[in-house]
Amino acid sequence: MGEFRLNPKYIQKFDAEDLKDHQFFPINKNQDGKLIIASVGKNKNDLEFIQSTSKLQTGLEVEVFQIEEKSFLREYKLIGNGIYHRFIIIQRGRKIKPRGEIFAVISNKGGVGKTTLSIELSYQFRRMGLKTLLVDMDLGNADISNKLKEFPPNTLYDFFAKTHSLDELTNKLELGIYFIPGESGEFKLANMTWSQKQRFFREITKISSSYDVVLLDLGAGISRDVIDFALLADESVIVTTPKDFISGYAAGKAAFTRFVDIQAKKIGDDSDEEIIFSPWYVLNQVKNYQQGVEYFKTIKKTSNNHINQQSQFKFVPEYLGSVLYDREMIDSAYNSQKILGTCYPNSELGRSILKIASGLMHVKNELKLQNKSSGLKRFARILGLAKPQEVI
Ligand SMILES: Nc1ncnc2c1ncn2[C@@H]1O[C@H](COP(=O)(O)OP(=O)(O)O)[C@@H](O)[C@H]1O
Ligand SMILES: [Mg+2]
Repeated sequence: MGEFRLNPKYIQKFDAEDLKDHQFFPINKNQDGKLIIASVGKNKNDLEFIQSTSKLQTGLEVEVFQIEEKSFLREYKLIGNGIYHRFIIIQRGRKIKPRGEIFAVISNKGGVGKTTLSIELSYQFRRMGLKTLLVDMDLGNADISNKLKEFPPNTLYDFFAKTHSLDELTNKLELGIYFIPGESGEFKLANMTWSQKQRFFREITKISSSYDVVLLDLGAGISRDVIDFALLADESVIVTTPKDFISGYAAGKAAFTRFVDIQAKKIGDDSDEEIIFSPWYVLNQVKNYQQGVEYFKTIKKTSNNHINQQSQFKFVPEYLGSVLYDREMIDSAYNSQKILGTCYPNSELGRSILKIASGLMHVKNELKLQNKSSGLKRFARILGLAKPQEVI
């Protein structure tokens, strides 16, 4: 097993029509400096073509894994839309398949809008044509169910009690998103052993290959348990508000401290490789967007001043976006058994959440992989840039 995130830098080096005709695409370089390729591999001469073009265009030898044709066609469209999945290699059979990004939504305090944003973001991902799974991890206080008025009979509790698999607990909602409910009552993440947490993560990673996005709404607060879950996810999103931004900063710092503990054990003493922890920040309930930007700047400045940036471990918070305060609009949507995204899709509030959803799928890739080259745009043009809704 191994996992690679598609790096668009390699895609640009190939001709989009060649990729389409010979049904393959490059994913990333592996540790041996070879280029990992996903190929449908129906025709014998495809392999020869892949080897020779790769050598010519990238100078790299290739390692080819087989992808299902259906998956290939979908990924090809997604790549054209600037969405790059992670891919899991299954050594046996030399197969490869995409898996959805797992986002953990956290905050230091309750009441900042974490659950509301988790629901609204999931819905916006769905509108972007992405298959989305929303998991209510706020065990003890199943707030997503309360907000959506959806109370399926079985909950995450049944997963931890070993009577149900995560797949069996998944419900498709009318909103078009998939949902695993939490449990109301005494059950808490804190009651869970490390091996239970690992079992959860093994299974959520496994089922993430059936989705484009998995969103975990973690309980309020930054107990060790919440942070462990956040660090097991691919990315963390920290929700905070102007009123609570100090605790928003504290949430990032606490996650970073734990991150350093875990990483330091992993890498040993003699490595001086720079290791970055870079969570996303969303400022919710702002008066205007400028206010959100200003508060984020303060969080960034505080972390520069108060966290040792000399060490090999760096804390680099990133700004994802702000959402305006509009109590009336949110109440009116949720009181009529709807959500903001369905009630007021074109409102300023609705649009700001769409922007955040889109940022999560695009911007981070670009920050991390430093691309958005003309080559990629050309690739999208050749594809005719499928409209997001047409992806699924
Ligand atoms: N942008 C916003 N403007 C106005 N009210 C909001 C906004 N976001 C969330 N709320 C309200 O704040 C309260 C707390 O939100 P919730 O999502 O339950 O927070 P959390 O999950 O962080 O505890 C809810 O009543 C919700 O309707
Ligand atoms: Mg909540």
